[in-house]
Amino acid sequence: MKKKILITLAIFFALMIAAFGWFYWQITHQTSETIISDLDTKTLFDARCGICHNGGATGAPLVSALKLMPADRILTAMTTGVMRNQAMTLTDEQKQALATYLSDVDPSESKNEVVKGLCADGVTIEETATSPKIDGWGMGQRNQRYYNEPDLKINATNVGDLELDWVFAFPTASRARVQPTIAGNTLFTASQLGTIYALDRQTGCTRWTFQADAEVRSALVIERDSTNKASRLYFSDFNAFVYAVDLKTQKLLWKVKIDDHPNATITGTLSIFEDRLFVPVSSTEVLESADEKYACCTFRGSMVALNKADGAMVWKTYTIADEPSPAGENSEGTTIMGPSGAPIWTGVTIDTLRRTLYIGTGENYTRPVTLTSDAIIAFSLDDGAIKWVQQTMSGDAWNGACVTLFSRANCPENNGPDADYGAPPILVNSNGKDLILAGQKSGKVTAMDPDNNGAIVWQRQVGRGGTMGGVHWGMATDEKILYVPINDRGLYDLNPEIPKSPGMHAFNVADGKPLWATIEEDRCPALTLRGCGPGISAAITLTPGVVYGPALDGIMKAYATDDGRELWAFDARRDFEAVNGVKAFGGAFDSDGPVVVGNQLFVTSGYAKYAAKEGNVLLAFKVK
Ligand code: HEC
Repeated sequence: MKKKILITLAIFFALMIAAFGWFYWQITHQTSETIISDLDTKTLFDARCGICHNGGATGAPLVSALKLMPADRILTAMTTGVMRNQAMTLTDEQKQALATYLSDVDPSESKNEVVKGLCADGVTIEETATSPKIDGWGMGQRNQRYYNEPDLKINATNVGDLELDWVFAFPTASRARVQPTIAGNTLFTASQLGTIYALDRQTGCTRWTFQADAEVRSALVIERDSTNKASRLYFSDFNAFVYAVDLKTQKLLWKVKIDDHPNATITGTLSIFEDRLFVPVSSTEVLESADEKYACCTFRGSMVALNKADGAMVWKTYTIADEPSPAGENSEGTTIMGPSGAPIWTGVTIDTLRRTLYIGTGENYTRPVTLTSDAIIAFSLDDGAIKWVQQTMSGDAWNGACVTLFSRANCPENNGPDADYGAPPILVNSNGKDLILAGQKSGKVTAMDPDNNGAIVWQRQVGRGGTMGGVHWGMATDEKILYVPINDRGLYDLNPEIPKSPGMHAFNVADGKPLWATIEEDRCPALTLRGCGPGISAAITLTPGVVYGPALDGIMKAYATDDGRELWAFDARRDFEAVNGVKAFGGAFDSDGPVVVGNQLFVTSGYAKYAAKEGNVLLAFKVK
């Protein structure tokens, strides 16, 4: 009898569970069936995303740039990518609806593989040729950005004859910012989708590709074997992974994550020395700070040395020695964490003589501030010990909350001025004396003495400065004259009394004496957004007689090194016919600089950040 009751009860509960399950399925099923109209989605976008993406936050691409992204990439940005915090409280349906609503890309176009433009002869291992070579960012370990090899055929006399030869377009990209790396007849570059390309330098046809997991921003670095032939490619991605790829097999050798912070990223180009690979670590945590409930901030910049054979970490040194701890509350009652920040955006400069590397740091994200933000820091190549620090702007605490139009709860008191180093320090020998030359977003250029703990030898304020420079990505020098690109766009609290001086400036290396300056007039179309300007934010490149300055407004110029007169100009704000059949259009020049070898010049165009004009091309010019 008892047994019968038990069975009845069991059946009863089973039916209850089934009924509940059915009911639950009905609800969830119905929810996913509910159609989110375009109007709802637009309202949702305006409320949750538009505050930044309609031009409200520096650094955020405009809607016109988001439209160029395939829906699945927009979705990934919200689920696991850089926007995961901004989209945290949205449902899966809302994220999907936003992605579909934003994207203008035909899903069939969004595939990564190369459809057109493959080289007829397939993979030829011509990258083993020993020359010409551009192995990384700075045209040498000292980051002088000066190319003067015997193969060079472009000079002040014939640079005016440069003509567009071929164009390669990155599929579904809105920015192109990976500086080309050259090994013999092969040009290596990478895209916003994280695709690594090995292109034929003469025609732009694609030899092979390799897919990384996330966007690649820094230049690819080449390792050479004992016969000086290219053997390996090293690079980093947006999610702070470093990769090693074998050039013969095009296979991954190893891949390692070099920082556990969820916002860690790598933008500065890696450097090789002896058996090690040196990696500068930065972060996107300033973005999270715009959320008043985010406990800002916990990231600390660092330098990492890896064993290049297998990626094993040899040493890691933080730019801030202390771990962050609670340092008060913001106006919304959220804990403030600090010290934080001092990220490394710059490439790494190697001083073989002193067995030292130099980098520049960015601002602190919160208070308390440290003595290592906005500084040039010298690390021992051997064990990562900090040898000296030269801070050229103290007390700079700043984060993304300081520029949003909504919650400024996380913006530190007395914030700014946001005077990072974005450009790597340059090591030169000037009349027998070594100097380090550093250009800062504040517009300050400083020469330091590497034999005297970075003591300041001379200093110049060039232009006014700005959040995209002043000096942003890179100066150039032949060890006699220092060429300083100045951007000076937008509002900047610092140096308001100094006139804006966008353009190219030249100084004597030994004593900082000004030689000439070519200040550019505003050439932006009327009513363009704030992302346009005649200044130079991108890195510049120097060859004997000619210095190349690609400007934010999409116009690139070649200047004569003796007096700064214009020798050649090219306007990239147009559509192109690409050798790989992808819809191609130029835009702002930013971040990476031109590369000149033989009779050719290569430069990327398009930079959908900071409301600058989007574009997706690698342009190849030549003189006949
Ligand atoms: C606090 C300002 C802010 C808010 C709010 C915001 N974004 Fe962003 N978003 C940014 C910035 C800044 C970047 C550029 C990040 C970078 O590339 O370093 C960005 C980048 C992106 C990208 C490009 C990612 C990539 O892979 O290049 C997408 C897509 C995007 N946001 C979508 C959204 C959507 C959808 C929302 C609303 C749910 C949103 N964002 C809300 C500031 C914001």
